[in-house]
Amino acid sequence: MKVTIHKLFDYLLETTASEPPECFIGFSLARSPRLKDFLPDLDPDLSLDWNGASFLGLPALRQRVLDQARLALPLDSVLITAGAAEANYLLFRQLLRAGDEILTEAPGWPQAGVMAKAIGATLTEVPRDESTSWALDPDAVAKAITPRTRMIFLTNPNNPTGRLIPEPDLRALAALADHHGIWLVVDEVYAGLEWVGQRPPSIAGLTPFGITTGSVSKALGLQGLRTGWMICQSPDVILDAMILRENSSEIMNVLGEHIAEIALRPDRLTAALSCARTEAQAALDRLDQFITAEPRLSWHRPEAGLIGLAHVTGTTGESLARALLAPPWRTFLLPGSAYGLPDYIRLGVGGGPEARTEEGLTRLSRFLAQA
Ligand SMILES: Cc1ncc(COP(=O)(O)O)c(C=O)c1O
Repeated sequence: MKVTIHKLFDYLLETTASEPPECFIGFSLARSPRLKDFLPDLDPDLSLDWNGASFLGLPALRQRVLDQARLALPLDSVLITAGAAEANYLLFRQLLRAGDEILTEAPGWPQAGVMAKAIGATLTEVPRDESTSWALDPDAVAKAITPRTRMIFLTNPNNPTGRLIPEPDLRALAALADHHGIWLVVDEVYAGLEWVGQRPPSIAGLTPFGITTGSVSKALGLQGLRTGWMICQSPDVILDAMILRENSSEIMNVLGEHIAEIALRPDRLTAALSCARTEAQAALDRLDQFITAEPRLSWHRPEAGLIGLAHVTGTTGESLARALLAPPWRTFLLPGSAYGLPDYIRLGVGGGPEARTEEGLTRLSRFLAQA
């Protein structure tokens, strides 16, 4: 298997190799806590040896993971991983073979396409339609299933549009997975900051074919901990993923697991999400006003999370992103070409004050006025 680089990662690599941006209007994660925020709850005698711990991850953390997803499943249905990215990776590697078909959404998180190509599986994309505010139509998913379809991979909330798959549609997708015996992986890495209605249920609770992936990276801003999970009712899926992981990083990092467990304690979690919500709601209001007032931009405001996709006229998203990254603007956003959509840009309001989002919007406005 040889993994080739995707446009999205290529662009990120390029941006980190050049002068660092001064402003960010593309961040997808909430303001990050500091280590000192966790010190009072960390045991100074905590051994940094892993010996004797569970290969599935800290039991207390696995319980928190189930609790935050509101799932009454056994602890052994959770495997702690190095972020949602590793959880997805382990699933693609263990559940897909060359010649299988994997069904995913477009636009969506590129990991499915990158891994399908590396494995020799065929990728089928079901379009999310901008005219329906990027909704995913379960009937379109049903029509795209063939006898070779082995997995459906979706994001809920969607990266990059922030659109939610509502509960009735999740139930319809779960019924499809049951009927055809197809794995239904739903990446919930952006869950926790819903602006429209309640957080939809986790797919792992709706069908034995459902696999939920997630992490503490986004709504809690703890990306650097590299701590995430997969949840599935099938012990074989969890075991297979654990066996593959044993041959790469072997085990999880002890400190990341302990800090994540503290971060997911109910009182902590409620407080952190409430702060992130307040900050993000105001920032999204501001971004929405900005886009409404800017004649060359339009969007469907995200239903959840901190990112959304805006249509741009008069230039391509990539020319805009590259020009805006260069001096004197030095402002980061993601071109829609990273998602196969050249006329779009992905905007985000995460990162807290350090992202200097307001200044970034001022620069974008000045740039668009003269471009
Ligand atoms: C949909 C999606 N899944 C997974 C990831 C990776 O997240 P983590 O930090 O949990 O590995 C990202 C990161 O941007 C993402 O957007």
